[in-house]
Amino acid sequence: MKLCMIGAGYVGLVSGACFSDLGNEVICVDSDTNKINNLKNSIIPIYEPGLGELVKKNYKSGRLSFSTDLPSSIKKSNIIFICVGTPTKKNGIAADLTQIFNVSKELSHYINKFKIIITKSTVPVTTGDKVEKIISKKVKKKLFSVVSNPEFLREGEAIRDFIYPDRIVIGTQNKKTNKILKQLYSPLISKGAKYLNTSRRSAELIKYASNAFLATKITYINEIANMCEKLNVNVEDVSIGMGLDKRIGGRFLRAGPAYGGSCFPKDTRAILSTAKQIKSNLSLIKSVINSNENRTKILTERIYKILKGNLKNKKICFLGVTFKANTDDMRESSSLKMIPAILKKGALITYYDPTGEKKEFKKFKNIEFKNSIKAACVNSDLVIIHTEWNDFKSIDFKKIIKKKNFKLFDMRNIYSTEKMKADKINYFSIGR
Ligand code: UGA
Repeated sequence: MKLCMIGAGYVGLVSGACFSDLGNEVICVDSDTNKINNLKNSIIPIYEPGLGELVKKNYKSGRLSFSTDLPSSIKKSNIIFICVGTPTKKNGIAADLTQIFNVSKELSHYINKFKIIITKSTVPVTTGDKVEKIISKKVKKKLFSVVSNPEFLREGEAIRDFIYPDRIVIGTQNKKTNKILKQLYSPLISKGAKYLNTSRRSAELIKYASNAFLATKITYINEIANMCEKLNVNVEDVSIGMGLDKRIGGRFLRAGPAYGGSCFPKDTRAILSTAKQIKSNLSLIKSVINSNENRTKILTERIYKILKGNLKNKKICFLGVTFKANTDDMRESSSLKMIPAILKKGALITYYDPTGEKKEFKKFKNIEFKNSIKAACVNSDLVIIHTEWNDFKSIDFKKIIKKKNFKLFDMRNIYSTEKMKADKINYFSIGR
Protein backbone atom coordinates (compact mmCIF):
# COMPACT_ATOMS: atom_id res chain seq x y z
CA MET A 1 0.00 0.00 0.00
CA LYS A 2 1.06 3.60 -0.51
CA LEU A 3 1.30 5.54 2.71
CA CYS A 4 2.12 9.09 3.63
CA MET A 5 3.14 10.07 7.16
CA ILE A 6 2.71 13.80 7.80
CA GLY A 7 5.20 14.76 10.49
CA ALA A 8 8.52 12.91 10.78
CA GLY A 9 8.67 13.08 14.57
CA TYR A 10 8.48 10.19 16.99
CA VAL A 11 5.19 8.75 15.83
CA GLY A 12 5.52 9.43 12.10
CA LEU A 13 9.10 8.33 11.71
CA VAL A 14 8.87 5.14 13.77
CA SER A 15 5.53 4.07 12.23
CA GLY A 16 6.69 5.06 8.74
CA ALA A 17 9.92 3.06 9.00
CA CYS A 18 8.06 0.04 10.43
CA PHE A 19 5.29 0.16 7.78
CA SER A 20 7.91 0.31 5.02
CA ASP A 21 9.66 -2.66 6.59
CA LEU A 22 6.38 -4.57 6.23
CA GLY A 23 6.57 -3.99 2.46
CA ASN A 24 4.56 -0.78 2.03
CA GLU A 25 5.69 2.27 0.09
CA VAL A 26 5.98 5.08 2.61
CA ILE A 27 6.71 8.79 2.22
CA CYS A 28 7.51 10.72 5.41
CA VAL A 29 6.74 14.39 4.91
CA ASP A 30 7.91 17.19 7.15
CA SER A 31 8.11 20.95 6.70
CA ASP A 32 11.56 20.95 8.36
CA THR A 33 13.94 20.86 5.37
CA ASN A 34 16.95 20.25 7.57
CA LYS A 35 15.33 17.21 9.18
CA ILE A 36 14.33 15.76 5.80
CA ASN A 37 17.83 16.29 4.32
CA ASN A 38 19.36 14.61 7.36
CA LEU A 39 16.97 11.67 7.08
CA LYS A 40 17.98 11.21 3.44
CA ASN A 41 21.51 10.75 4.81
CA SER A 42 20.26 8.38 7.52
CA ILE A 43 20.82 10.99 10.24
CA ILE A 44 18.04 10.32 12.73
CA PRO A 45 16.70 13.28 14.75
CA ILE A 46 15.89 11.20 17.85
CA TYR A 47 17.59 8.52 19.89
CA GLU A 48 15.56 5.33 19.47
CA PRO A 49 17.24 1.91 19.55
CA GLY A 50 17.12 0.19 16.14
CA LEU A 51 15.49 3.08 14.29
CA GLY A 52 18.64 4.17 12.42
CA GLU A 53 19.20 0.71 10.94
CA LEU A 54 15.54 0.33 9.99
CA VAL A 55 15.46 3.73 8.25
CA LYS A 56 18.71 3.05 6.40
CA LYS A 57 17.61 -0.39 5.20
CA ASN A 58 14.22 0.71 3.92
CA TYR A 59 15.47 3.98 2.42
CA LYS A 60 18.07 1.97 0.49
CA SER A 61 15.41 -0.47 -0.73
CA GLY A 62 13.37 2.49 -2.05
CA ARG A 63 10.28 1.66 0.03
CA LEU A 64 10.87 4.55 2.43
CA SER A 65 11.35 8.09 1.18
CA PHE A 66 11.48 11.58 2.69
CA SER A 67 10.04 14.78 1.33
CA THR A 68 9.04 18.33 2.14
CA ASP A 69 6.56 18.34 -0.76
CA LEU A 70 3.14 17.76 0.78
CA PRO A 71 1.00 18.10 -2.40
CA SER A 72 2.85 15.46 -4.43
CA SER A 73 3.18 13.12 -1.43
CA ILE A 74 -0.59 13.26 -0.81
CA LYS A 75 -1.38 12.68 -4.47
CA LYS A 76 0.85 9.59 -4.57
CA SER A 77 -0.65 7.98 -1.44
CA ASN A 78 -3.87 6.12 -0.54
CA ILE A 79 -3.53 6.27 3.21
CA ILE A 80 -2.44 9.44 4.97
CA PHE A 81 -1.38 9.42 8.61
CA ILE A 82 -1.44 12.72 10.47
CA CYS A 83 1.42 12.46 12.98
CA VAL A 84 2.00 16.05 14.07
CA GLY A 85 2.37 17.21 17.67
CA THR A 86 -0.49 17.97 20.04
CA PRO A 87 1.31 19.68 22.93
CA THR A 88 -0.42 21.32 25.89
CA LYS A 89 -1.67 24.83 25.03
CA LYS A 90 0.63 27.61 26.25
CA ASN A 91 -2.00 29.01 28.60
CA GLY A 92 -4.01 26.11 29.92
CA ILE A 93 -4.29 22.35 30.08
CA ALA A 94 -6.06 21.54 26.78
CA ALA A 95 -4.25 19.98 23.80
CA ASP A 96 -3.19 22.49 21.16
CA LEU A 97 -4.65 21.23 17.87
CA THR A 98 -3.32 24.00 15.62
CA GLN A 99 -1.01 21.67 13.70
CA ILE A 100 -3.72 19.03 13.22
CA PHE A 101 -6.18 21.56 11.80
CA ASN A 102 -3.56 23.29 9.61
CA VAL A 103 -2.52 19.98 8.09
CA SER A 104 -6.17 18.95 7.53
CA LYS A 105 -6.85 22.21 5.71
CA GLU A 106 -3.73 21.89 3.61
CA LEU A 107 -4.21 18.30 2.57
CA SER A 108 -7.83 18.93 1.57
CA HIS A 109 -6.49 20.79 -1.49
CA TYR A 110 -4.77 17.70 -2.86
CA ILE A 111 -7.32 14.90 -2.57
CA ASN A 112 -7.81 13.74 -6.14
CA LYS A 113 -9.15 10.22 -5.47
CA PHE A 114 -10.37 8.16 -2.48
CA LYS A 115 -8.02 8.58 0.50
CA ILE A 116 -8.09 7.36 4.07
CA ILE A 117 -7.00 10.12 6.46
CA ILE A 118 -5.85 8.81 9.81
CA THR A 119 -5.14 10.74 13.00
CA LYS A 120 -2.29 8.86 14.68
CA SER A 121 -1.39 11.80 16.89
CA THR A 122 -3.08 11.75 20.29
CA VAL A 123 -6.16 13.90 19.79
CA PRO A 124 -9.11 14.73 22.07
CA VAL A 125 -12.47 13.10 21.43
CA THR A 126 -14.35 14.80 18.55
CA THR A 127 -11.15 15.92 16.79
CA GLY A 128 -11.88 13.43 13.98
CA ASP A 129 -15.31 15.05 13.52
CA LYS A 130 -13.63 18.45 13.19
CA VAL A 131 -10.98 17.16 10.76
CA GLU A 132 -13.77 15.67 8.63
CA LYS A 133 -15.62 18.99 8.63
CA ILE A 134 -12.51 20.89 7.53
CA ILE A 135 -11.77 18.49 4.67
CA SER A 136 -15.39 18.32 3.53
CA LYS A 137 -15.29 22.05 2.80
CA LYS A 138 -13.10 21.21 -0.22
CA VAL A 139 -13.70 17.53 -0.91
CA LYS A 140 -16.82 15.41 -1.54
CA LYS A 141 -17.51 13.05 1.40
CA LYS A 142 -17.30 9.91 -0.72
CA LEU A 143 -13.69 10.76 -1.63
CA PHE A 144 -12.29 10.45 1.89
CA SER A 145 -12.71 8.75 5.20
CA VAL A 146 -11.34 10.11 8.50
CA VAL A 147 -10.19 7.45 10.98
CA SER A 148 -8.69 7.45 14.45
CA ASN A 149 -5.83 4.96 14.84
CA PRO A 150 -3.99 5.89 18.04
CA GLU A 151 -0.43 4.71 18.58
CA PHE A 152 0.69 2.95 21.75
CA LEU A 153 4.46 3.08 21.25
CA ARG A 154 6.78 3.67 24.19
CA GLU A 155 9.93 5.68 23.61
CA GLY A 156 12.96 3.45 23.80
CA GLU A 157 10.85 0.39 22.90
CA ALA A 158 8.99 1.88 19.95
CA ILE A 159 10.00 -0.60 17.25
CA ARG A 160 9.24 -3.62 19.38
CA ASP A 161 5.91 -2.07 20.40
CA PHE A 162 5.05 -1.48 16.73
CA ILE A 163 5.85 -5.03 15.65
CA TYR A 164 4.27 -6.74 18.66
CA PRO A 165 1.42 -4.48 19.77
CA ASP A 166 -1.09 -5.75 22.32
CA ARG A 167 -3.84 -4.21 20.22
CA ILE A 168 -4.52 -2.19 17.10
CA VAL A 169 -7.42 0.21 17.50
CA ILE A 170 -9.23 1.44 14.40
CA GLY A 171 -11.94 4.02 14.88
CA THR A 172 -14.17 4.03 11.82
CA GLN A 173 -17.67 2.99 10.93
CA ASN A 174 -16.84 2.84 7.22
CA LYS A 175 -16.71 -0.86 6.23
CA LYS A 176 -14.52 -0.33 3.15
CA THR A 177 -11.99 1.68 5.17
CA ASN A 178 -11.94 -0.91 7.92
CA LYS A 179 -11.27 -3.68 5.40
CA ILE A 180 -8.30 -1.80 3.92
CA LEU A 181 -6.81 -1.02 7.33
CA LYS A 182 -7.25 -4.59 8.55
CA GLN A 183 -5.28 -5.65 5.49
CA LEU A 184 -2.57 -3.05 6.20
CA TYR A 185 -2.15 -4.41 9.71
CA SER A 186 -2.56 -8.08 8.75
CA PRO A 187 1.17 -8.92 9.20
CA LEU A 188 0.86 -7.83 12.85
CA ILE A 189 -2.54 -9.44 13.39
CA SER A 190 -1.17 -12.76 12.14
CA LYS A 191 1.54 -12.51 14.82
CA GLY A 192 -1.09 -12.23 17.55
CA ALA A 193 -2.03 -8.55 17.81
CA LYS A 194 -5.69 -8.00 18.69
CA TYR A 195 -7.59 -5.85 16.18
CA LEU A 196 -10.40 -3.69 17.51
CA ASN A 197 -12.73 -1.86 15.16
CA THR A 198 -14.79 0.71 16.99
CA SER A 199 -16.26 4.17 16.54
CA ARG A 200 -13.90 7.07 15.86
CA ARG A 201 -14.75 8.80 19.15
CA SER A 202 -14.21 5.57 21.12
CA ALA A 203 -10.77 5.12 19.54
CA GLU A 204 -9.84 8.68 20.46
CA LEU A 205 -10.93 8.15 24.05
CA ILE A 206 -9.25 4.71 24.31
CA LYS A 207 -5.88 6.42 23.84
CA TYR A 208 -6.42 9.06 26.53
CA ALA A 209 -8.11 6.66 28.94
CA SER A 210 -5.19 4.22 28.54
CA ASN A 211 -2.47 6.78 29.17
CA ALA A 212 -4.36 8.30 32.10
CA PHE A 213 -4.84 4.82 33.58
CA LEU A 214 -1.15 3.94 33.26
CA ALA A 215 -0.22 7.28 34.84
CA THR A 216 -2.64 6.46 37.67
CA LYS A 217 -1.04 3.05 38.19
CA ILE A 218 2.42 4.62 38.52
CA THR A 219 1.17 7.36 40.83
CA TYR A 220 -0.59 4.78 42.97
CA ILE A 221 2.55 2.70 43.49
CA ASN A 222 4.56 5.86 44.16
CA GLU A 223 2.17 6.77 46.97
CA ILE A 224 2.30 3.19 48.29
CA ALA A 225 6.12 3.51 48.20
CA ASN A 226 5.86 6.55 50.49
CA MET A 227 3.90 4.39 52.95
CA CYS A 228 6.43 1.56 52.65
CA GLU A 229 9.25 3.89 53.69
CA LYS A 230 7.43 4.69 56.94
CA LEU A 231 6.35 1.10 57.63
CA ASN A 232 9.61 -0.69 56.86
CA VAL A 233 8.01 -2.60 53.98
CA ASN A 234 9.65 -3.28 50.61
CA VAL A 235 7.61 -1.74 47.77
CA GLU A 236 9.18 -4.16 45.29
CA ASP A 237 7.53 -7.04 47.16
CA VAL A 238 4.24 -5.17 47.24
CA SER A 239 4.41 -4.61 43.44
CA ILE A 240 5.19 -8.25 42.79
CA GLY A 241 2.45 -9.42 45.14
CA MET A 242 -0.12 -7.10 43.57
CA GLY A 243 0.96 -7.89 40.02
CA LEU A 244 0.44 -11.62 40.51
CA ASP A 245 -3.29 -10.89 40.51
CA LYS A 246 -4.15 -11.04 36.81
CA ARG A 247 -6.82 -8.40 37.34
CA ILE A 248 -4.09 -5.96 38.36
CA GLY A 249 -1.05 -7.05 36.32
CA GLY A 250 2.55 -6.39 37.27
CA ARG A 251 3.52 -3.84 34.62
CA PHE A 252 3.72 -0.11 35.29
CA LEU A 253 3.99 -0.76 39.00
CA ARG A 254 7.61 0.34 39.34
CA ALA A 255 7.93 3.08 41.95
CA GLY A 256 10.37 5.86 41.14
CA PRO A 257 10.54 9.57 40.36
CA ALA A 258 7.49 11.43 39.03
CA TYR A 259 6.37 10.08 35.64
CA GLY A 260 7.47 12.33 32.79
CA GLY A 261 7.90 12.35 29.03
CA SER A 262 5.98 13.76 26.13
CA CYS A 263 2.79 11.79 26.79
CA PHE A 264 1.56 11.08 30.33
CA PRO A 265 1.83 14.64 31.69
CA LYS A 266 0.32 16.18 28.53
CA ASP A 267 -2.40 13.55 28.09
CA THR A 268 -3.58 13.54 31.72
CA ARG A 269 -3.97 17.31 31.46
CA ALA A 270 -5.80 17.05 28.14
CA ILE A 271 -8.32 14.40 29.28
CA LEU A 272 -9.01 16.55 32.34
CA SER A 273 -9.60 19.51 30.07
CA THR A 274 -12.05 17.49 27.94
CA ALA A 275 -13.89 16.38 31.10
CA LYS A 276 -14.14 20.00 32.26
CA GLN A 277 -15.50 21.13 28.90
CA ILE A 278 -18.32 18.59 29.02
CA LYS A 279 -18.87 19.14 32.78
CA SER A 280 -17.91 15.59 33.67
CA ASN A 281 -16.10 14.78 36.90
CA LEU A 282 -12.59 13.35 36.53
CA SER A 283 -11.40 14.05 40.07
CA LEU A 284 -9.23 10.93 40.10
CA ILE A 285 -7.02 12.19 37.26
CA LYS A 286 -6.89 15.63 38.84
CA SER A 287 -5.46 14.09 41.95
CA VAL A 288 -3.02 11.95 39.92
CA ILE A 289 -1.67 15.12 38.30
CA ASN A 290 -1.32 16.83 41.70
CA SER A 291 0.29 13.80 43.29
CA ASN A 292 2.78 13.50 40.43
CA GLU A 293 3.72 17.17 40.72
CA ASN A 294 4.17 16.71 44.44
CA ARG A 295 6.35 13.64 43.87
CA THR A 296 9.24 15.74 42.61
CA LYS A 297 9.01 17.88 45.76
CA ILE A 298 8.99 14.77 47.97
CA LEU A 299 12.12 13.36 46.31
CA THR A 300 13.88 16.73 46.43
CA GLU A 301 13.14 16.93 50.18
CA ARG A 302 14.54 13.43 50.50
CA ILE A 303 17.81 14.61 48.93
CA TYR A 304 18.00 17.44 51.51
CA LYS A 305 17.37 14.92 54.26
CA ILE A 306 20.04 12.50 53.03
CA LEU A 307 22.56 15.36 53.14
CA LYS A 308 21.23 16.44 56.55
CA GLY A 309 19.80 19.70 55.23
CA ASN A 310 23.14 21.15 54.20
CA LEU A 311 23.70 21.27 50.46
CA LYS A 312 26.13 24.18 50.36
CA ASN A 313 29.13 23.13 48.24
CA LYS A 314 28.04 19.48 48.41
CA LYS A 315 29.06 17.59 45.29
CA ILE A 316 26.07 15.78 43.84
CA CYS A 317 26.21 13.59 40.76
CA PHE A 318 23.17 12.70 38.63
CA LEU A 319 23.39 9.48 36.63
CA GLY A 320 20.83 9.88 33.85
CA VAL A 321 18.69 12.97 33.38
CA THR A 322 16.18 11.89 30.70
CA PHE A 323 12.64 10.93 31.77
CA LYS A 324 13.36 7.24 31.16
CA ALA A 325 16.09 5.00 29.76
CA ASN A 326 16.80 4.43 26.05
CA THR A 327 15.70 7.88 24.98
CA ASP A 328 17.33 11.30 24.72
CA ASP A 329 14.00 12.96 25.47
CA MET A 330 14.08 15.49 28.30
CA ARG A 331 10.43 16.54 28.06
CA GLU A 332 8.87 16.81 31.53
CA SER A 333 11.73 14.83 33.09
CA SER A 334 11.71 15.20 36.87
CA SER A 335 15.41 16.13 36.69
CA LEU A 336 14.36 19.45 35.16
CA LYS A 337 12.77 20.46 38.46
CA MET A 338 15.03 18.62 40.88
CA ILE A 339 18.34 19.92 39.59
CA PRO A 340 17.50 23.68 39.72
CA ALA A 341 16.05 23.25 43.23
CA ILE A 342 19.25 21.59 44.46
CA LEU A 343 21.47 24.14 42.73
CA LYS A 344 19.56 26.90 44.50
CA LYS A 345 20.60 25.40 47.83
CA GLY A 346 24.26 25.75 46.88
CA ALA A 347 25.09 22.24 45.63
CA LEU A 348 27.66 21.62 42.90
CA ILE A 349 26.30 19.18 40.32
CA THR A 350 27.94 16.91 37.79
CA TYR A 351 25.90 14.66 35.54
CA TYR A 352 26.36 11.92 33.02
CA ASP A 353 23.77 10.71 30.55
CA PRO A 354 24.44 8.14 27.82
CA THR A 355 22.71 10.48 25.35
CA GLY A 356 25.09 13.34 26.10
CA GLU A 357 24.97 16.88 27.40
CA LYS A 358 21.59 18.60 27.69
CA LYS A 359 20.91 22.13 26.50
CA GLU A 360 18.30 22.50 29.27
CA PHE A 361 21.03 22.84 31.93
CA LYS A 362 23.33 25.20 30.05
CA LYS A 363 21.77 28.31 31.58
CA PHE A 364 22.68 27.21 35.13
CA LYS A 365 25.94 27.78 37.00
CA ASN A 366 27.55 25.02 39.04
CA ILE A 367 26.40 22.14 36.87
CA GLU A 368 28.75 20.29 34.57
CA PHE A 369 28.30 17.43 32.12
CA LYS A 370 30.98 14.72 32.30
CA ASN A 371 31.49 12.25 29.54
CA SER A 372 31.84 9.12 31.64
CA ILE A 373 30.22 7.59 34.71
CA LYS A 374 33.55 7.65 36.52
CA ALA A 375 34.32 11.30 35.74
CA ALA A 376 30.87 12.32 36.95
CA CYS A 377 30.99 10.31 40.19
CA VAL A 378 34.62 10.53 41.28
CA ASN A 379 34.42 13.47 43.75
CA SER A 380 30.79 13.09 44.81
CA ASP A 381 29.29 13.33 48.26
CA LEU A 382 26.06 11.97 46.85
CA VAL A 383 25.32 10.03 43.66
CA ILE A 384 21.72 9.99 42.45
CA ILE A 385 20.60 7.34 39.98
CA HIS A 386 17.79 9.19 38.23
CA THR A 387 17.29 7.08 35.09
CA GLU A 388 17.38 3.29 34.81
CA TRP A 389 19.94 2.90 31.97
CA ASN A 390 21.57 -0.53 31.80
CA ASP A 391 24.92 1.30 31.94
CA PHE A 392 24.22 2.08 35.61
CA LYS A 393 23.32 -1.43 36.71
CA SER A 394 26.71 -2.80 37.73
CA ILE A 395 28.88 0.08 38.82
CA ASP A 396 31.61 -0.53 41.38
CA PHE A 397 30.95 2.70 43.28
CA LYS A 398 33.58 2.08 45.93
CA LYS A 399 36.21 1.76 43.25
CA ILE A 400 35.34 4.92 41.34
CA ILE A 401 34.39 7.36 44.13
CA LYS A 402 37.23 8.93 46.11
CA LYS A 403 35.25 10.04 49.17
CA LYS A 404 34.94 7.36 51.83
CA ASN A 405 31.52 8.33 53.13
CA PHE A 406 29.77 8.99 49.86
CA LYS A 407 26.03 8.34 49.71
CA LEU A 408 24.00 6.71 46.96
CA PHE A 409 20.34 7.55 46.27
CA ASP A 410 18.92 5.01 43.83
CA MET A 411 15.62 6.47 42.59
CA ARG A 412 15.00 3.43 40.34
CA ASN A 413 15.74 0.66 42.84
CA ILE A 414 18.35 -0.81 40.49
CA TYR A 415 20.49 -2.26 43.30
CA SER A 416 19.54 -4.71 45.99
CA THR A 417 19.53 -3.37 49.53
CA GLU A 418 21.28 -6.56 50.72
CA LYS A 419 24.19 -6.09 48.32
CA MET A 420 24.58 -2.44 49.28
CA LYS A 421 24.55 -3.40 52.96
CA ALA A 422 27.17 -6.08 52.35
CA ASP A 423 29.32 -3.57 50.42
CA LYS A 424 28.89 -1.10 53.30
CA ILE A 425 27.56 1.63 51.03
CA ASN A 426 25.41 4.38 52.48
CA TYR A 427 22.46 3.47 50.30
CA PHE A 428 18.99 5.03 49.95
CA SER A 429 16.27 3.89 47.57
CA ILE A 430 12.53 4.20 46.94
CA GLY A 431 9.92 2.54 49.14
CA ARG A 432 12.21 0.18 51.00
C1 UGA B 1 3.68 6.20 27.02
C2 UGA B 1 2.84 4.91 26.93
O1 UGA B 1 3.45 3.88 27.72
C3 UGA B 1 2.72 4.44 25.48
O2 UGA B 1 1.85 3.31 25.43
C4 UGA B 1 2.11 5.57 24.64
O3 UGA B 1 2.04 5.23 23.27
C5 UGA B 1 2.99 6.80 24.77
O4 UGA B 1 3.09 7.18 26.16
C6 UGA B 1 2.36 7.90 23.97
O5 UGA B 1 1.25 8.32 24.31
O6 UGA B 1 2.89 8.27 22.90
P1 UGA B 1 6.31 6.76 27.00
O7 UGA B 1 5.89 8.09 27.57
O8 UGA B 1 7.21 6.73 25.84
O9 UGA B 1 5.00 5.90 26.58
O10 UGA B 1 7.06 5.93 28.15
P2 UGA B 1 6.60 4.99 29.36
O11 UGA B 1 7.43 3.78 29.32
O12 UGA B 1 5.15 4.82 29.42
O13 UGA B 1 7.07 5.87 30.63
C7 UGA B 1 6.44 7.09 30.98
C8 UGA B 1 6.90 7.53 32.36
O14 UGA B 1 6.42 6.63 33.37
C9 UGA B 1 8.41 7.56 32.54
O15 UGA B 1 8.79 8.69 33.28
C10 UGA B 1 8.73 6.28 33.30
O16 UGA B 1 9.90 6.34 34.05
C11 UGA B 1 7.50 6.19 34.18
N1 UGA B 1 7.22 4.82 34.67
C12 UGA B 1 6.82 3.85 33.82
C13 UGA B 1 7.36 4.53 36.02
O17 UGA B 1 7.72 5.40 36.84
N2 UGA B 1 7.05 3.27 36.48
C14 UGA B 1 6.65 2.30 35.64
O18 UGA B 1 6.39 1.17 36.12
C15 UGA B 1 6.54 2.58 34.27
